[in-house]
Amino acid sequence: MIAKLMWPAGALLLAGCSGQSNPDNTQEAQFVRAHDIKQLMAIVVEPQANVFWGSAGYEVDASGERDLTPTTDEGWLATQSSAATVAEMGNLLMTPQYAEGRGEDWIQFSRALVEVGKRAEQAAIARDGAAVFEIGSTMYNVCQACHQVYPPAALAQAESNNVSSQLE
Ligand code: HEC
Repeated sequence: MIAKLMWPAGALLLAGCSGQSNPDNTQEAQFVRAHDIKQLMAIVVEPQANVFWGSAGYEVDASGERDLTPTTDEGWLATQSSAATVAEMGNLLMTPQYAEGRGEDWIQFSRALVEVGKRAEQAAIARDGAAVFEIGSTMYNVCQACHQVYPPAALAQAESNNVSSQLE
């Protein structure tokens, strides 16, 4: 029983040691590549941006028009949290695991995502539906600006086929 419990601790210790034995790598060794850029976009960035975009304006369906502005503390927290996540994704995109091999503009686009995410979060904290709506469209422009220079495969394919298509 005790031996079993000690196994994970031993494994962690070993991992720590191997990191230290390579001092040049110490900084990067702290990051674990959990998602490639495509996964990060599809699983984190896009769904979180959608939460933010879904927090302002109106939705029209069969039952009529529905105001999307949050009405509860939980709703506003979800809006704030999505904005904060988008901001921190910008920071993550600047780390070597995503920025390596990209141009200087990659850092600018990523920083723009942090900035717009921070403004988006402020709008959520202020519970300002009009600001959430307006900053949402700025956020969309930041996404598009990077995709224009670094096109997602689907978009590049559509353009090479001369088909007008929108990613989101
Ligand atoms: C710093 C650049 C950058 C920014 C900013 C950025 N993206 Fe991306 N995005 C990429 C790259 C590069 C790809 C292509 C990934 C691939 O196909 O290898 C991509 C791909 C995608 C995809 C396609 C994923 C798939 O399954 O193929 C979606 C959706 C997406 N981004 C959404 C967003 C949204 C929403 C935002 C803004 C909130 C955003 N991105 C901001 C660089 C960026």
